[in-house]
Amino acid sequence: WPQPEQLENLIKGRRSVRQYRPENVDPALLQQVLDVSAHAPTGVNARKLWVGVMDDMDRMQAFREDVYARLADKALHNALPQCRRTAFFAAAPRLWKEQGIDGIFRGAPHFVLVGNAKDAPCQEQDPLIYLSYMELYAQSLGLGTTWCGLLYWCLQLMLPELLPELGLPETHSFQYAMLLGEPAIRYARTVEYGPATVHRIQWK
Ligand SMILES: Cc1cc2nc3c(=O)[nH]c(=O)nc-3n(C[C@H](O)[C@H](O)[C@H](O)COP(=O)(O)O)c2cc1C
Repeated sequence: WPQPEQLENLIKGRRSVRQYRPENVDPALLQQVLDVSAHAPTGVNARKLWVGVMDDMDRMQAFREDVYARLADKALHNALPQCRRTAFFAAAPRLWKEQGIDGIFRGAPHFVLVGNAKDAPCQEQDPLIYLSYMELYAQSLGLGTTWCGLLYWCLQLMLPELLPELGLPETHSFQYAMLLGEPAIRYARTVEYGPATVHRIQWK
């Protein structure tokens, strides 16, 4: 095993990366990340995850443009579903077009989407465990990651018609998303949040 202090540094030192080098991650390295992450535990050992990876930055760029164009079109026709995230997704295409601000994808060259079989015993938990393991392993290799709730909501709420096009089978539900790439930024220190706030359970 790694020494405990190495793991401590990894857990405290992993950070969200929102600046990426404009290049593909070496395919062999990306495959290694996916192969190792596939060992994450699943409830009842069901192992029914669906993992989709956007592994080419040119295709990613085309997808990014398509997503912002579709959001703009839906916003124009008042066709975005109304919820507390609608305002963000209605404004995002303009920010991208006029200011080059990529609020959803943060300029990442890749993303990983995770779904799980609808009959998996731990449908919602397995994908989050998978991505948690993947994030730590990827960051231990020097890669950058960011959990991406915005991409999750974008696909789940705003543009769900894209999920089958991305390859998600009907048997699976979409569960979460993570951005990935070579970081254009390095964090020098761990984050220190201090001691944990924990409730000591009293019983009898
Ligand atoms: C479930 C989850 C969803 C997140 N979604 C986004 C997101 O959509 N975009 C983003 O830039 N950061 C996202 N983040 C990153 C958090 O903002 C980040 O983890 C937090 O600010 C702490 O910073 P750190 O990760 O660098 O320690 C998400 C994090 C989590 C855990």
